[in-house]
This record gives sequence, structure tokens and C-alpha cells, in this order.
Amino acid sequence: MKEKLNKLRDEFLEQLAQAKDSDYLHELELKYLSRKGELSQIMRSLKDLSLDLRQEIGELANNVKLELQSKFAEMSQTINNYSNKSGKIDITLPGGRIPQGHLNPITLVQQEMEDIFISLGFKILDGPELESDYYNFTALNIPPTHPARDMQDTFYVDLKNKDGQYDLLMRTQTSPVQIRAMQKYGAPLRALIPGRCFRSEATDARHEHTFYQVEGLLIDKNINFSNLKSLLEIVGQKLFGQNTKLRMRPKFFPFVEPGNNGEYTCFLCQGQGCRVCKYTGWLEIVGAGLVHPAVLKAGGLNPDIYSGLAFGFGLNRLAMLKYNINDVRLFNNGDLKFLEQF
Ligand code: PHE
Repeated sequence: MKEKLNKLRDEFLEQLAQAKDSDYLHELELKYLSRKGELSQIMRSLKDLSLDLRQEIGELANNVKLELQSKFAEMSQTINNYSNKSGKIDITLPGGRIPQGHLNPITLVQQEMEDIFISLGFKILDGPELESDYYNFTALNIPPTHPARDMQDTFYVDLKNKDGQYDLLMRTQTSPVQIRAMQKYGAPLRALIPGRCFRSEATDARHEHTFYQVEGLLIDKNINFSNLKSLLEIVGQKLFGQNTKLRMRPKFFPFVEPGNNGEYTCFLCQGQGCRVCKYTGWLEIVGAGLVHPAVLKAGGLNPDIYSGLAFGFGLNRLAMLKYNINDVRLFNNGDLKFLEQF
């Protein structure tokens, strides 16, 4: 009987040590510890023994029972903790994932531009989004009655200045910071100016009232058109690859002379013609030109000594091309399903 008890004890402990889940534990409990289990059977057979033996073995059997019950309880506790049903923390489980934010694709393109121009010795500047009529138009060679004002649908702000005139507007372009930069830093100057701009547009898949530009300004002595062309060529190659070509076509901007539109080889079809470049092989991406003497003057510089080049990229358009985004309104609508792709 003693032997039987010891054997049962050893067997039980051996099997208990292998327990991995609560189903296994339950089976073990049924087999050994329940009322019909092996231990109870031994206890029941005690009544057939002599009084002396009954006492001795009974005591032993009781001790074994207590030991097995307490070992069993210990193990169920461990297994419960592991499956975290008890609400306790299992420090061996891998940690939960902390959700991370995403950069807007426009920010990504802006940072890429900044990297390119910092490597070319440009400083990064910014300027006010609420701008004066003077900086946004007049100083850029667009006087109050000039028809070129109609080229930009402007949000005027309903606030009069000290002379009783409406003077504030949401800037329609980053170009006013050209003037601010010249006034503040003088010449020579190399500046890249990313920023948010606003136009009173009827929005659709290609037009948005709030959008981003990045302006470039380089002022020095003897700056000429070939400087502009080679600079934009380098930028195009860094943005779209080594084989990218640039073509420049005349375009009127009042603050540059001559003014032009820069177009790059379509990087999607390598200039073969596709839906994105409307089968022309070229992508119209940058407005540019040599800084108009009137603009240099407004910036406080002498146009007989200094000349300059300026350009403006539309960041929304760049990001749309680069990431194959088909609706400009996606950038501002805060939809996580869109943003989380970048
Ligand atoms: N500011 C112009 C626009 O918004 C772009 C531009 C910048 C053109 C600098 C020439 C030089 O369309």
C-alpha cells in the first residue's frame, strides 16, 4: 500500500511537471485527485486494513493528498498567469505595439528638396502665411491695377490697415519671401523657402485652396540663364534620376524676366508618353526665371551690381507624381487610410 502511494505520488508529480495548459491540468485532476480518481480509490481501500496499518497508511495517504493538492494548485496558478486569465501581467510576453505617426507625403517631398538644396549651399527660410498686399504682389512687380493679379484667385482678409485700406491676404505663393529674404540677408544669397499657400480655387481632383510650394532664390554677381538651367537640371536628376532631361518654355511671371516653365522628362515612361504626362513625355513642374530688376530693387539690392535666379515648385504636384496620388484633396483631408500608406 505504501509503495502504491509513493508510486502514485511520483507519477503524478512527473506528469504535473509537463503541464502546459489548463485542459491537461483538468485531465490530471480527474485522473488522480477527483472523487473517482486514483488517490480516492486508495483512501477508500484503507477500510480493509487492520487498525494499526489503517492509522499509519491513512496518515501517509493524507500527507500525500495534501502535497499533491498544493503542488497542483501551484501549477494551475502558473498556467493561469501565463494565459493571463487572472489579469496578472506576464512580463515574458512580447510588448504591445505603440502606434507611430506618419509623415504626410508632402512633408516627405519637402524634406527631400531641402536635402538637395542644403547640399548645394542654400539656407532654408520661411515667411508669413498671412501676407501684406505689398509683399505678395506690389513688391513682386505686380502693382495694384496690374492685370496679372487676376492670375491668382486670392483670399483677401477683411481687416483694414492704419490707412483705412484692405491690405492683408493669405499668400498665394511663396515668392513674397524672396523680398523678405533679400531685405534681411542682402546679397549674395541662396535660399530655399518651402511653405503653405492659399488660393480661392473651386476645388477638384487637381485644384485645392490650400497647397504647398517651395521657392528657390539665388542672388549673386553675373547670374545668367545658363546658371538657372544647369541648377534646375541637377535638381531634376536628383529628384527623378540621372537620365532626366529639362526643357524650358517661355511663360510670363511678372517677377522674372525672362520667365519660363521648366519641364522634366516624365520619369514614369522615360519620355515615351503615358497617361500621366498626357502622352507628351514631359512633366510641367517648375516656374522659373531671372529675377526682375524691379524685384531686386524692392529687396534693397542694386540691379546694376546683382542679378539672380528664382524658381517655384508645386510640392503637391511633385508628391502626386512621385507617389502616384490621383486626387490633390487627399493631402488635407486627414484620412488615416490614406496617410498610413507613407
Ligand atoms: N510664384 C510662381 C507661381 O506661384 C512660381 C514662380 C516662382 C515662378 C519663382 C517664377 C519664379 O506660379
